[in-house]
Amino acid sequence: MAESLEIVILAAGQGTRMRSDLPKVLHPLAGKPLLAHVIETSQSLSPNQIQVIYGHGGDRVRETIGDYPVSWTEQSEQLGTGHAVEQAIPQISSEAMVLILYGDVPLVRSETLQALISHAEEKAFALLTVELADPTGYGRIVRNDNGSVERIVEEKDASDEERAICEVNTGIMALSAGQLTNWLTRLDNKNAQGEFYLTDIIAMAVKEGVAVDAVIARDVDEVMGVNDRIQLAHLERQYQRREAERLMSQGVTLVDTTRFDIRGSLSAGQDVTIDVGVIIEGRVTLGDRVRVGANCVLKDVTVASDSEILPMSVIEQADIGNHCSIGPFARIRPGTTLNEGARVGNFVEIKNSAIEKGSKINHLSYIGDTSMGSGVNIGAGVITCNYDGANKHRTIIGNRVFVGSDSQLIAPIKIGDDGTIGAGSTITSDTPEGQLTLSRSKQTSHKGWKRPTKQK
Ligand code: UD1
Ligand code: MG
Repeated sequence: MAESLEIVILAAGQGTRMRSDLPKVLHPLAGKPLLAHVIETSQSLSPNQIQVIYGHGGDRVRETIGDYPVSWTEQSEQLGTGHAVEQAIPQISSEAMVLILYGDVPLVRSETLQALISHAEEKAFALLTVELADPTGYGRIVRNDNGSVERIVEEKDASDEERAICEVNTGIMALSAGQLTNWLTRLDNKNAQGEFYLTDIIAMAVKEGVAVDAVIARDVDEVMGVNDRIQLAHLERQYQRREAERLMSQGVTLVDTTRFDIRGSLSAGQDVTIDVGVIIEGRVTLGDRVRVGANCVLKDVTVASDSEILPMSVIEQADIGNHCSIGPFARIRPGTTLNEGARVGNFVEIKNSAIEKGSKINHLSYIGDTSMGSGVNIGAGVITCNYDGANKHRTIIGNRVFVGSDSQLIAPIKIGDDGTIGAGSTITSDTPEGQLTLSRSKQTSHKGWKRPTKQK
């Protein structure tokens, strides 16, 4: 039994085929860098240490990934995967079990790695392999007549016969640190690529009588690496499919699983329905029976049960109560709360505002920095003028207020409970409770007035 688990993540390669300024492992999958996926999966195994071997674009990688509890080990020259792992050895106790992962293989599952580690604990060397219809480019697993693994041959060093082998090396392996160290020191770079191949340790192990236990991964995408943007897009869809299936098994209806994207986490109650084109970002919580219409973006949002988000709405950092209705075409910005039964209609923008029970803002309004009581009705085209060009000011609207269409409330301002604001008013000072306040000019009609006629 290994004393402790040491995870080494190789992430020093350049990623030339991405054709990008951004280091490959920082390209996002589901909104998060590839490397972050691997680190999070690593964390789920509770290792003693996670070492990231970095090289190309190292500063940017460290800056972006900085919040994760990993140790950074530089490989200043990329001399091969064996050389990369060697850099990690001084920081690893020889008693440990080492698991080698790759910063550009983002979808590997915790359960698969757990199984690999269990094999390694029994047999001392466990290698994750996979069978591919087209093995081009991969290291091939060469087995002897008894079917035991003998060695790995890289594509560029392989004979035609070896190239026909469809079982390939994923590169992921678990083995004892002591043995790994011993074998790494004996690697050479006398091969087609002039690199120190990590894969050469397999033949060394076999020679020393250490059986190499090849665990065949069932799910091909789980062990696929990202070398170009086409593979990245493929794995993005695979990730989304996995997440979609997880959500459906929890009782969420996704109208079309291929048109659903999650870039963060979603916790959903029962009988939630999500229509096509919805994007979930950050942490989103949806209560029972919440319906999200087509093409909505929800980021860091909580929506309580029985509420409905109608199509084309964008909601960010908001807390939505029960039985609310938002959209279509609504924009709810950070710092907004909607209490039970509130309604927000089309072309309404709300920012940093609290809307109490049952209040309605149904058409074409901007409500910013506002505290709105319950039972309020805001007419079409109402604007809270919260910004004077230098500072933001609050608008306070009492309970059961009615604001007529096309009115402007110039903040700071307070509208008393049960007050009515006449349509088309520009309100510049506080208004009393229960009264009608209006500021529009008097209507006039002109008898005998004639329309101008076109000059000849
Ligand atoms: C490697 C394996 C091959 C396997 C394939 C799976 C070797 C010699 N070959 O081949 O058997 O089928 O992965 O994808 O191991 N890296 C470093 N430093 C280096 C070199 C590589 O950190 O000096 C990192 C890269 O960033 C990459 C990973 O190691 O994440 C694999 O390197 P790569 O050059 O892509 O190896 P392959 O030729 O694909
Ligand atoms: Mg590769």
